[in-house]
Amino acid sequence: MLKKSLTVFFEEFLYKESLFVDKSVLLASYIPETVYYRDIEVNKIAAILAPLLKREKPSNLFIYGSTGSGKTLVVKHIIDNMEEVSKNKKIPLKIVYINCKLKKVADTEYRLIAQLASFFGKSIPPTGLPTDEVYKIFYNAVEQERGIVLLVLDEIDQLIKRTGDNVLYNLTRINEELKNSQIALVGVSNNITFMENIDVRVKSSLSEEDVLFPPYNAFEIQNILKERAKKAFKENVIEQGVIEKCAAYVAREHGDARKAIELLRVAGEIAERSKSKTVLTEHIDEAEEKLEREKIFDIVRTQPKQFQVVLFSILSTKNKNLSIYTGEVYELYKRLCFKIGLRPLTQRRVSHIIGEFELIGIINTKTISKGRYGRTREITLSVPSSVLPLTKKILEEELVLT
Ligand SMILES: Nc1ncnc2c1ncn2[C@@H]1O[C@H](COP(=O)(O)OP(=O)(O)OP(=O)(O)O)[C@@H](O)[C@H]1O
Ligand SMILES: [Mg+2]
Repeated sequence: MLKKSLTVFFEEFLYKESLFVDKSVLLASYIPETVYYRDIEVNKIAAILAPLLKREKPSNLFIYGSTGSGKTLVVKHIIDNMEEVSKNKKIPLKIVYINCKLKKVADTEYRLIAQLASFFGKSIPPTGLPTDEVYKIFYNAVEQERGIVLLVLDEIDQLIKRTGDNVLYNLTRINEELKNSQIALVGVSNNITFMENIDVRVKSSLSEEDVLFPPYNAFEIQNILKERAKKAFKENVIEQGVIEKCAAYVAREHGDARKAIELLRVAGEIAERSKSKTVLTEHIDEAEEKLEREKIFDIVRTQPKQFQVVLFSILSTKNKNLSIYTGEVYELYKRLCFKIGLRPLTQRRVSHIIGEFELIGIINTKTISKGRYGRTREITLSVPSSVLPLTKKILEEELVLT
């Protein structure tokens, strides 16, 4: 190696040195030792579940609150503690925790019950048995426990969304048949709209007790972040104001601690990549933009097909005209449906879909009068134009338009 290039190499190596000491502290899988600002919730839940340790059935419990407000963390923290006490005191305790967001675990009633049974050492083939049979195996397994079984269903709204409320109905009713054992339920959710559509009996049974997790305020988020940053970053790499900015940003939305931690991690990565020796507030701005972009792509990817065609029509109409009118969007939409073999919806339905996109914040609409031609809606995009090319590309792939 030439002397000069070697110098460059060493200099670059110096710059490349990581700003992190342990990035895993900022990942979703990390479990902090201390749970801050949740004493009230911890104490309430602990008091509700404590009878389990005396082998008495606790009330069913519904825990809710916005995303990133510490629900999963708190629930797991309490379960861990109860398990430790039960181990030390040799008290039999059976707690089953399931995150219903995991597709393979809870996308059908069959899968969920099979998964539950597996916690009791019963293996059920992934498909094939009649659902009644699966329930019977689970029922017998619970009966053999001869005690109280606590089922914790995290992100329970996801379960209901996929399978309907039948499972919950069955799980709450099973107690009437069990002779030696009883099941107590804990449901956790960041979305309570699902409660509106479930059977009233299931609803009242699940929420015999409920605990609300309020969002964190900016001050609380700051301190949660500071604790993480201390472990994740080298000393003195976070500039003054960075944590504060991060906290202010998420507090403005809904105090989501997960988002705040992610923002800080991404800012750190951006700082590192741009060879900065410290994390600056502008890295938070960039991280914010990056996450926002990814969020848009995620939304676009997960929309139902009809929605995707409507969105694609909006974006494609944009290329020809500066203003986008709903009439033109609808014409293009119909042509696209024809092209990909989808039955077009009525203009009224498409208007409704456009309204939904406005709610999500992807577009804005304004009703304008076209004189004697009546009225129409003018659409403007409210996402940064830098995301448009990739958004279109994603839609083309999703709809197999190319
Ligand atoms: N009080 C807290 N102290 C320390 N870290 C926290 C606290 N609350 C939340 N966190 C961290 O924030 C992240 C999100 O928390 P958690 O997963 O518990 O949120 P959640 O309420 O279950 O959200 P969701 O509804 O989206 O599942 C996790 O990384 C967690 O460790
Ligand atoms: Mg959670």
